[in-house]
Amino acid sequence: MERIRIIGIETSCDETSVAALEWKGKTPDATFDLIAHEIFSQTKLHAPYGGVVPRIAQYAHKEILPEMVKRVLNDARWETTPPHVWAVTSGPGLAPALAVGVNYARACVQHMGGEIVGVNHLEGHIASIRISQSHKKLPPFPWLALIISGGHTQLVLVTSYGEYTLLGTTRDDAVGESFDKVAKMLGIGYPGGPEVSRRAQKGSITAFDFPRPMNTSNDYDFSYAGLKTAVLYTLHGKNNTSSKDDPSCYDEEFIADICASFEYAALTPLITKTVRAVKEFSPQMLCVVGGVSANQQLQERLCKEIGTSLPINFPEKKWTGDNAAMIAVAGGMRWSLRGGDDPSKLDIRARWPLSQTK
Ligand code: KG4
Ligand code: ZN
Repeated sequence: MERIRIIGIETSCDETSVAALEWKGKTPDATFDLIAHEIFSQTKLHAPYGGVVPRIAQYAHKEILPEMVKRVLNDARWETTPPHVWAVTSGPGLAPALAVGVNYARACVQHMGGEIVGVNHLEGHIASIRISQSHKKLPPFPWLALIISGGHTQLVLVTSYGEYTLLGTTRDDAVGESFDKVAKMLGIGYPGGPEVSRRAQKGSITAFDFPRPMNTSNDYDFSYAGLKTAVLYTLHGKNNTSSKDDPSCYDEEFIADICASFEYAALTPLITKTVRAVKEFSPQMLCVVGGVSANQQLQERLCKEIGTSLPINFPEKKWTGDNAAMIAVAGGMRWSLRGGDDPSKLDIRARWPLSQTK
């Protein structure tokens, strides 16, 4: 069986990552071996700003990517047998950050040969559930995917390889973004998700009656701006002012209670709407992917609500955040479906809905 050598490159946000993967065959459901993988997280560079700064991200990707590609090629022992496919995230994401990966992949194709495939980052996240079970047969379609990260909150029906129907999305902030913003208001660090979750374990989910945004709306959309504002007003009350926030006046117990009440409220609509979509569309598999899928409470509540009637797949924790292994897997699938892209026509797409990936 032919083994297609694929290099995956991810630079869409604040992680620089490169992977080497062997795709066993030429079909979108082929099994594969992950040969080498590296990731560098820029979170420390962005932490002082409480969020990702696009220019800093671009600079850091540029500094690191060429050396990382070289090391991964060495680790995979592909220095003298160049890759067949360069799979690179071409959107959605931060334009200056995406440009670093796409331009470098283009240069690699020029110097080393091979084909280039522009990968949709969200398709990559969906593919992340396969990394730790690369030899497992996939269930028939449709699949339901809940994509929850710092930039996205989407329920998507996967009807075939590379074919997606968007059921609903956020109308304002993404769920991960709301965790990050609440963490920033509380002065407990960036990225906020893991820290809010950790603090929430010592707090009470009923301490504050935060709204469960759009939980009962008759669609599959989400909204997180109102919940964030509700937390802000509660903090203003504690501060006894409506203009100046000083996180140092919050004690540990208060922070834990805010975190617990907020986390429970933020996760509730995700669970309600996923369960409702399972009932309406009868998928053969549920995939929960993206940074927020690492959330323990979300995993427990979803598994409890859905029970054993449906296989639920979460990526292994190390593959929940942005990484190049998932881009290489999605690249293998895309290349099998439609071959490589024309390097001169491959452009970055900062906004790129999954439903337009054909
Ligand atoms: O997928 P990802 O690494 O990057 C994007 O594509 O956005 O997701 C990062 C997001 C951040 O907002 C982070 O706070 C959130 O995932 N996150 C979590 C948890 N771990 C990471 N949110 C809630 N609970 C967690 N345990
Ligand atoms: Zn992501």
